[in-house]
Amino acid sequence: MLSTYFAEHKERFLNELFELLRIPSVSADSKFKPDMRRAAEFVKEKLTAAGLDKAGIHETPGHPVVYAEKLIDDSLPTVLVYGHYDVQPADPYELWNTPPFEPTIRNERIYARGSCDDKGQFYMHVKALEAMLATDGLPCNVKVMIEGEEEIGSDHLGKFVAENREMLKADVVLISDTSIIANDVPSIEAGLRGLSYVEVEVVGPNRDLHSGVYGGAVQNPLNVLCQLIASLHDDKGRITIPGFYDKVEELSAEERAALAEAPFDEEEYKRDLGLKAVFGEEGYTSPERASIRPTLDVNGIWGGYIGEGAKTVLPGKAQAKISMRLVPNQDPDEITELFTKHFVAIAPPTVSVNVTPHHGGQPYVTPTDSVEFEAARRAFRESWGKDAIPTRGGGSIPIVALFEKELGIKSILMGFGLDIDALHSPNESYGLFNFYKGIETIPYFYKHYADLKKTVVDA
Ligand code: BES
Ligand code: MN
Ligand code: MN
Repeated sequence: MLSTYFAEHKERFLNELFELLRIPSVSADSKFKPDMRRAAEFVKEKLTAAGLDKAGIHETPGHPVVYAEKLIDDSLPTVLVYGHYDVQPADPYELWNTPPFEPTIRNERIYARGSCDDKGQFYMHVKALEAMLATDGLPCNVKVMIEGEEEIGSDHLGKFVAENREMLKADVVLISDTSIIANDVPSIEAGLRGLSYVEVEVVGPNRDLHSGVYGGAVQNPLNVLCQLIASLHDDKGRITIPGFYDKVEELSAEERAALAEAPFDEEEYKRDLGLKAVFGEEGYTSPERASIRPTLDVNGIWGGYIGEGAKTVLPGKAQAKISMRLVPNQDPDEITELFTKHFVAIAPPTVSVNVTPHHGGQPYVTPTDSVEFEAARRAFRESWGKDAIPTRGGGSIPIVALFEKELGIKSILMGFGLDIDALHSPNESYGLFNFYKGIETIPYFYKHYADLKKTVVDA
């Protein structure tokens, strides 16, 4: 029986996850390249140990993809599990209470970089599959693809998917890389935001200048950059780039009412984040602002002198990184172009500006009346004893829209994280409850999906 198997192997599941968390697989930083390979090897070994076939490491021009499968019957539906073994950089290290790559349990939570995003979450699938194969068997065919470049934009995965359409052919993609509302309020994300990411440069004088000798007579690129950035929002919190909202999908009153079913406590939200007040586009609630509305945020800004003490300098150049979260039906390439045109147009004649596009990603929505969404709903109902609320997520998983384009299939975002997990922040953590609840819920998805597909075929 599955539950007996879980109970007997619980400790080992966790110990294995700890082993994986000890590998600093930071995709963004080339000094961790050997660790990226070690992590891929680890995943491959564990997929083999779980009983999957053809577990292998597939090279890309970047970090490798791990793939394995268990095909049991042509007539059964096939589930493609997707996850990522790469993690965000752990910097700044000094803000961690315990070292990021030495997993530690405190307050029933696993503290480590990647504990939730996404090692703790994709590893639940490896263990759920192991348990299913060791007990009652699989009700569906399964393919597993774990990549190593999600946190840097999945640049090479698109090509890999396009080139391996036959190998990856499936009926649905199952992903645990998102969150639920609370441990007693299960939810399923039915959408993700897209992303356009740019780096901008404002160039003034040909060198850094004495701010006394030249200040006042030469326009300061850092001042200009701040003015330009400030002008990108109006006083209602709306983005001022012409055309930016043209294609934004406006939700109906019913759709907004349905999303508002999800409980939200503004006081708790403020307390959790140490905010004096919430902020955002007029006419929308905080959860809406962070999910169904597009954004523009400076991620970093620099130039001039930022060392100790004072240095009187008028910087020759100022730079910033800017992310725009997109909603259906905004297109990242189009938005990047609108941004670039506008930014160049509003620059004063005293400086020149350069805009360099980085990775992007399409937004994504999945219908909540599909067989696969219903299977996820039933899985949650069976393990939680209550209904999961459909929500729309604010984060991005760039490859999800591509799965739809290249493989023609929808993704189910069956994530088990929480907002308090501190993804990408110091002291990232993942609840032991969530890790084990995920392992318990996943097999229910397979069961209900196979049942529902059978009914569809029989009908
Ligand atoms: N798992 C996250 C995305 C996420 C988190 C979705 C929480 C919904 C809820 C993913 O690993 C991530 O961080 N994505 C990046 C995308 C990027 C680096 C291209 C993001 O959203 O910033
Ligand atoms: Mn992730
Ligand atoms: Mn992430």
